[in-house]
Amino acid sequence: MDKALRGIQSLKGRISVPGDKSISHRAVMLGSIAEGVTEIDGFLMAEDCLSTVDCFRKMGVDIEIIRENGEYMGEREEGCDFGTNAESARVKIFGRGLYGLKKPDSPLYVGNSGTTIRLLSGILAGQDFEAEITGDESIQKRPMGRVTEPLRLMGARIDGAEGGNKAPLKIRGGGLKAINYRLPMASAQVKSALLLAGLYAEGQTVIEEPGSSRNHTELMMEAFGVNISRKSNKIMLTPAKKLIARKVSVPGDISSAAFFLVGACALPDSEVIIENVGINPTRTGIIDALRLMGADIQIANQRIVNGEKVADIRAKSSRLKGITIKGAIIPRIIDEIPVLAVAACFADGVTVIRDAGELRVKESNRIAAIVEGLSRLGARIKETDDGMEIQGPNKLKGCRASSFSDHRIAMSLAIAALGAEGETVIDDTECVKISYPGFFDVLTKVSHVL
Ligand code: S3P
Repeated sequence: MDKALRGIQSLKGRISVPGDKSISHRAVMLGSIAEGVTEIDGFLMAEDCLSTVDCFRKMGVDIEIIRENGEYMGEREEGCDFGTNAESARVKIFGRGLYGLKKPDSPLYVGNSGTTIRLLSGILAGQDFEAEITGDESIQKRPMGRVTEPLRLMGARIDGAEGGNKAPLKIRGGGLKAINYRLPMASAQVKSALLLAGLYAEGQTVIEEPGSSRNHTELMMEAFGVNISRKSNKIMLTPAKKLIARKVSVPGDISSAAFFLVGACALPDSEVIIENVGINPTRTGIIDALRLMGADIQIANQRIVNGEKVADIRAKSSRLKGITIKGAIIPRIIDEIPVLAVAACFADGVTVIRDAGELRVKESNRIAAIVEGLSRLGARIKETDDGMEIQGPNKLKGCRASSFSDHRIAMSLAIAALGAEGETVIDDTECVKISYPGFFDVLTKVSHVL
């Protein structure tokens, strides 16, 4: 579905964004292998998280989803549209315990979700049965060796395309031995897969991170009663006898909030307040980077919910300037780099983004995709091996641009389009349902035209 957007005057309003995607996935996974009933509120009703639900239902877990309108949502057909803008739900997971999952009678299908395939591979490595797992075209292109290699070192038997580097993967688990492993890249998905496998392994699992990536798995495991600790960049986990179900309140996703933060900072006369957003320090690189650019961003009502920091964020029109971002901040802003590139188009001077080669193996090659889209809009932007350079400010002009079927590219280009003269048409914007089905409705609500 194409989406036409016109340049606007300003962004104004008080909004909330749907639940955090990373936390929603983890709540379903840990809830499924816990003992007792895990109740989740604020669960993200978007394709990726529903793929995780589908996979666990296929392994015999009873999962009750009650939408905001009170409707019950049952089993879906593979990859089918859930056709609603209701983005958060109450979910009840009737946990089957660490060893209660049943062998699925058909392949597990993760759709577009990298988090589902990688984290679930870790859980499957601990099961005493063989299961096949696969996903859409984009998933089948993404590297899986980063998970399958260390899981094999732990004793899992894994077959897959390209020697196990690509999905479909066949995983036969059981009999795992703990490993001491240094991650070759800062990846929360790989770290989490190994921690999940570690729950089933004999001995203590030790993971060393080269840089700190999001730590939702560690925080949630602790809350579910797992013996897990951290000493500088090492995480130690003792195999669990059982996980204990608990209540999880999912905060708003800062990765979804990021589009409105950038819009409000980049457009004139704008002010947006976003309530109840997760501000776990492993995720707030976008706030740090925008502030370095000179953005007026305030944080209020800070509180801790389920071990996660939460707050309301206010962003206002700001005079932005170009910056260089590289190194340790990159894993803390990885999903927000496309929209940061949009902010850079409205900033004075050069913005340089380095050390972000991981973007090339996301849902799309996000370096190439955002550079192409913003170039079409008239930005002076150049692709580099591990990032990009943007010479701002740019006068953007409406055009046709491609989302590359990548939700974060579609939403980033939409923000750029609001600051462009004339009309921009973005193709295949349906992909926003991966993480934020109601994005365009909220965007329309806060968009002001004179
Ligand atoms: C995620 C980790 C990140 C991120 C992805 C979600 C997670 O991926 O880009 O959107 O929930 O663990 P990597 O671990 O591959 O960096």
